[in-house]
Amino acid sequence: NFPVIAIDGPTASGKGTVASLLAEKLGFHYLDSGALYRLVALASEKQGIDVKNGPELGLLVPKLLILFKNSQIFLNGEDVTDAIRTENIGLRASTLAVHPEVRTALVGLQRSFRQPPGLVADGRDMASVIFPDAVLKVFLTATAIARAERRYKQLIAKGISAKLFDLLQDLQERDARDSSRGTAPLLVADGAKVLETSDLSIDQAVKTVLDWYQS
Ligand code: C5P
Repeated sequence: NFPVIAIDGPTASGKGTVASLLAEKLGFHYLDSGALYRLVALASEKQGIDVKNGPELGLLVPKLLILFKNSQIFLNGEDVTDAIRTENIGLRASTLAVHPEVRTALVGLQRSFRQPPGLVADGRDMASVIFPDAVLKVFLTATAIARAERRYKQLIAKGISAKLFDLLQDLQERDARDSSRGTAPLLVADGAKVLETSDLSIDQAVKTVLDWYQS
């Protein structure tokens, strides 16, 4: 089996940036598993499916035509790269991610990203559920305020208006839901190394993980 580096952590911890840069450096594939939950959120919203309806959401997953192409994401042929990044879709994704039917329906799709020469997978349960045999498991985290500031800067850079306080509240709400849910709560997996990135630059974080992988 090809090597997997699992990078889990809370929302806006920088794991997406670190994981994709790491994948690039190693020439590995990259799985943004959060994007899959966001795609289910967007598709179900368009189809008017209730976020509380686990069984129906689970049935929707195999019907979705998902394509990751370079840094673009397509859903049923439509470019949804930006549409899945809104705060509303993020909240909806975290709400429907509690359903075991949704999580189970996404397992096979996530594992299919494991291709030669290897994979860097980012999410919440990469190390615990999807790739328990990952060669390296990292739990990437940062304080809530550091994460809110990062998200704020990202949004502003994209020309999207945002309020720091609202972002902080939103991510604390999402943390609470992600860590308290019965199915696949956000936890540091057995054998995972914790990387606190509040005071690290992106390059420093990438280098640390790369050193762990190569040592
Ligand atoms: O990481 P991102 O913010 O894109 O993820 C959106 C939501 O999807 C998260 O708040 C989380 O609830 C859910 N998620 C999950 N398991 C994953 C990845 C994301 O439950 N592996």
